[in-house]
Amino acid sequence: MWRRVVSCCIFNKFGELTWTTAGEDWILLFSGSYDLRCRFHFNPFYSQCLPDSSGGTTGATTTPATTPVTGPTTTASAPAGSQTPDAGNPFLGHDIYLTPFYAAEVNAAAANLTGTTQTKALSVAKIPTFTWFDTVAKVPSLGTYLADASAQGKSSGTPMIVEIIVYDLPDRDCAAAASNGEFSIADNGQANYFNYIDQLVAQIKQFPDVRVIAIIEPDSLANLVTNLSVEKCANAQTTYLACVTYAIQQLNTLGNVYSYLDAGHAGWLGWPANLSPAAQLFTSLYKNAGSPSFVRGLATDVANYNSFSTNSPDPITAGNPNYDELLYINALAPLLQSSGFPAHFIVDQGRSGVQNIRQQWGDWCNVKGAGFGTRPTTSTGVTLVDAIVWAKPGGECDGTSNSSSPRFDFHCALTDADQPAPEAGTWFQEFFVNLVNNANPPL
Ligand code: BGC
Repeated sequence: MWRRVVSCCIFNKFGELTWTTAGEDWILLFSGSYDLRCRFHFNPFYSQCLPDSSGGTTGATTTPATTPVTGPTTTASAPAGSQTPDAGNPFLGHDIYLTPFYAAEVNAAAANLTGTTQTKALSVAKIPTFTWFDTVAKVPSLGTYLADASAQGKSSGTPMIVEIIVYDLPDRDCAAAASNGEFSIADNGQANYFNYIDQLVAQIKQFPDVRVIAIIEPDSLANLVTNLSVEKCANAQTTYLACVTYAIQQLNTLGNVYSYLDAGHAGWLGWPANLSPAAQLFTSLYKNAGSPSFVRGLATDVANYNSFSTNSPDPITAGNPNYDELLYINALAPLLQSSGFPAHFIVDQGRSGVQNIRQQWGDWCNVKGAGFGTRPTTSTGVTLVDAIVWAKPGGECDGTSNSSSPRFDFHCALTDADQPAPEAGTWFQEFFVNLVNNANPPL
C-alpha cells in the first residue's frame, strides 16, 4: 500500500529556500513574511521545491545540499596504477561479453514461451547486459566470465569487455527497502565491503587482457545528494563515501577497469536545484580519492525507465526542463567540466522503450507496460555519451510486492507496478514477457 506524503518548503521573501521537510501529516498553508508551500505526492524521494516564480534563487530538494557534501579527506592520492587509460571512448575496439548467467535466465524464460514471443525472447540472450555483483558470494563467478572472455578475445582477435555493476554497500539502498543488501554498517559493514572489493580486484587481476567496464554503486551518491533527511542515509553517509572511494581507488590500480559512478537519472539529480550539489559531490569524492585516472565518468538511468532523448516529454516530467537523460547530461556536464570531473557518460536504456506509463516520475518498481529499449551502442550521436547500455538485466525484478516481506517497498505495490512481483533481482517472468512484447524498437 502506498502512503500519501506531503513535503513542504518555506521560502523567504527573496524566494530562497529556508526550510523543508517531508512527512505524513497534513500541513496548513500559510503566506506572510514567509511563504509555506506544500506539495502532495506519493514519493518522498524525488519531491522538489521548485524555483520561486518571482525570480529568487532556485529551491532545493527534500534535503537541500546547502552544506556541500565532501568525500573523506584521509585519502589524498589514489594507489598508483601502472597503466594509462585510453584517451577516448573505452567501449571502442572491443566486443562485449555475453554473461552466461543472464543468457541462462533468458533461455529458461523463453522455454516457457511459444511462437514469435519465444523467438523474440531468445534474441535477448544475445544482447550485452551488465552483471550485478550484489553479494560477495557471486564474486567468484566473475573469474569464470573473465576467463571465458579472455579465451573468446584470443580466438576472435578482438579484445573483450566484461560489464559489471559493483553493488554491495553496507546499508545499501538507504532511502528504499527493496534492495537492502547483505552488509550492515553496525556489523562490520565497511570492512566487509573492503573485502568484497578486494575479492573483485583479485579476480580481475588475473585477466589483464580483458577490459572491465564497471558501474559503481547505483543510487548511493544520489541518495547522499537528496536523501540525507532519511536517517539511514544520513547515518550511511561517511561509510558510503569511504566505500565508494575505496572501490574506485582499488579498481584503478588494475589498469583494465574503467569506472562510471552512478548518477541517478533526469528525474532525480536532473532537477535544476540538484545539479550543482551533485556535481560538487562527484567532484569532491573523485578529487579526495586522488583523481583516479580510470574513472571515466557517470552512469545514468540505471534500472530506471527514462527516455534518452525525446521530443514529447512524458507528462510526469512536468516542471523539470531536463525531462530526458540527454538534457540532464547536457546540463550536468559543464558543471563537472569546470570542476575537474571527467564528464563522460553511459546511459541505461534497457527498459526505456515505452514512455508515458508511470503515474509519478519517482515510480521505479516493475513499471507496468515497460518495454526493452534502444540496443547497446556506441553510436550515441553525442560525444559526451560513450554508450547506450543495458545495465538492469530486463526480467530481473526491481522489488517484491509482498507487503509482508522485510524488503517490501511501497513503490512495488503502486497501481503502475506489475504485480505480484518476486524479490528484487529474482526472475519475474510476466514482466519479462511484457518487456519482450513491448520492445521499442521491436525485437
Ligand atoms: C537487486 C539486485 C539485482 C539487481 C539486478 C537490484 O534491484 O537488488 O539483487 O542483482 O537489481 O537485477
